[in-house]
Amino acid sequence: MTDQTATITLGDTSVDSPVLKGSVGPDVVDIRKFYGQTGAFTYDPGFTSTASCESKLTYIDGDEGVLLHRGYPIGELAEHSSFMEVAYLLLNGELPSADALAHFDNTITRHTMLHEQLATFYRGFRRDAHPMAIMCGVVGALSAFYHDSTDIQDPHQRMIASHRLIAKMPTIAAMAYKYSVGQPFIYPRNDLSYTGNFLNMTFAVPAEDYEIHPAVERALDRIFILHADHEQNASTSTVRLAGSSGANPFACIAAGIACLWGPAHGGANEAALNMLREIGRPERIPEYIARAKDKDDPFRLMGFGHRVYKNYDPRATVMQKTVREVFAALKVNDPVFEVALQLEEMALSDDYFAEKKLFPNVDFYSGVILSAIGFPTTMFTALFALARTVGWVAQWNEMISDPAQKIGRPRQLYTGPTQRPYVPVDKR
Ligand code: ACO
Repeated sequence: MTDQTATITLGDTSVDSPVLKGSVGPDVVDIRKFYGQTGAFTYDPGFTSTASCESKLTYIDGDEGVLLHRGYPIGELAEHSSFMEVAYLLLNGELPSADALAHFDNTITRHTMLHEQLATFYRGFRRDAHPMAIMCGVVGALSAFYHDSTDIQDPHQRMIASHRLIAKMPTIAAMAYKYSVGQPFIYPRNDLSYTGNFLNMTFAVPAEDYEIHPAVERALDRIFILHADHEQNASTSTVRLAGSSGANPFACIAAGIACLWGPAHGGANEAALNMLREIGRPERIPEYIARAKDKDDPFRLMGFGHRVYKNYDPRATVMQKTVREVFAALKVNDPVFEVALQLEEMALSDDYFAEKKLFPNVDFYSGVILSAIGFPTTMFTALFALARTVGWVAQWNEMISDPAQKIGRPRQLYTGPTQRPYVPVDKR
């Protein structure tokens, strides 16, 4: 809280609203009593000016291109940390000691198996179902399996549910992939790392082992770090809103997966790679830039622009470097990377993108890497969901333990018909 107040005058009524101060970032006007004092709502579709909660997890400065998890810059975490360590950090607030990390890693490893009954659940889906459709269904179905971890007021049970979700998501995503290609499911292996295990469950077959390339394992782990949390984005807000009613945690994460699937959010990495492939060769880039600028054409450069970043997305910087590493390790020479680099360069030197502060976001390069590793485009968003589960459960835990937490219930500006009498069908 600051000693400042914001005064809003509405007709004859003046309301003084306290101004709250975070540890860093913009001040926040507390309008909780505004409706009670004025009888008026505030209007903010898309929450562009509204802080929906207090949080200690992640800080973004979109103008400066800064992303911090519990205070640590994303670039440093991507360089020096591991996904398991970042998961621990987000859930617990501090970096773990070596012992604490080993214990956490072991706990997650020992929760990676799915109830065997869930394997039959997959068979209810068509083989051509999108992996995100399967993940939505299967994760939602977990709520029917783990009744012992659903007293959400008990922090211990909340943590068990969180560990289960983080641990089982790679198994669920890999099984969604296996189902779509008609291969048998591969069980998790406790001798592998979190990310190595996911690669193995995705690409191994019973007839042949999959050799985990250390550079690929490291690159994918880094991609998971980059996607672990991102403040109050659409899917995280969905998880919080669903959870605010006291709903089952597995069902809340299924809601987050549904939201993430959209092309304006997690679906953008799939859309970005499809766009780069469609462009195909550098000579065609100007045509696509012109289309993106044309007001009469709904086309947008996918992987460009961000609601919060009005500068280079710091995750895109790490991604661009990771493309080079993976391509070198796998000896890949996909022309799509050259198209991406040249598209970025041309867009960044174009007034339209400069004026609107449109820069590459995390999704611009991630598809290029995932494709080189061997993932089909339909799996990209599933991988994003896998990683973001860490942020979702950390944010959900934070919300439930927040004494100011209430059921989320926005209001509206109603512009429909006013009250009118019902007209019987023969009189219409
Ligand atoms: N290509 C061309 N023009 C764009 C683009 C783009 N990628 N993104 C925004 N613009 C333009 C809009 O047309 C608009 O122009 P106008 O002011 O003349 O009407 C202006 O920039 C602002 O765009 P909004 O859609 O109002 O910005 P908003 O903050 O609502 O949208 C979003 C952000 C959804 C990410 C948008 O930039 C977009 O659609 N990008 C492409 C999809 C994408 O990459 N999504 C991934 C986001 S990151 C993530 O979810 C992990």
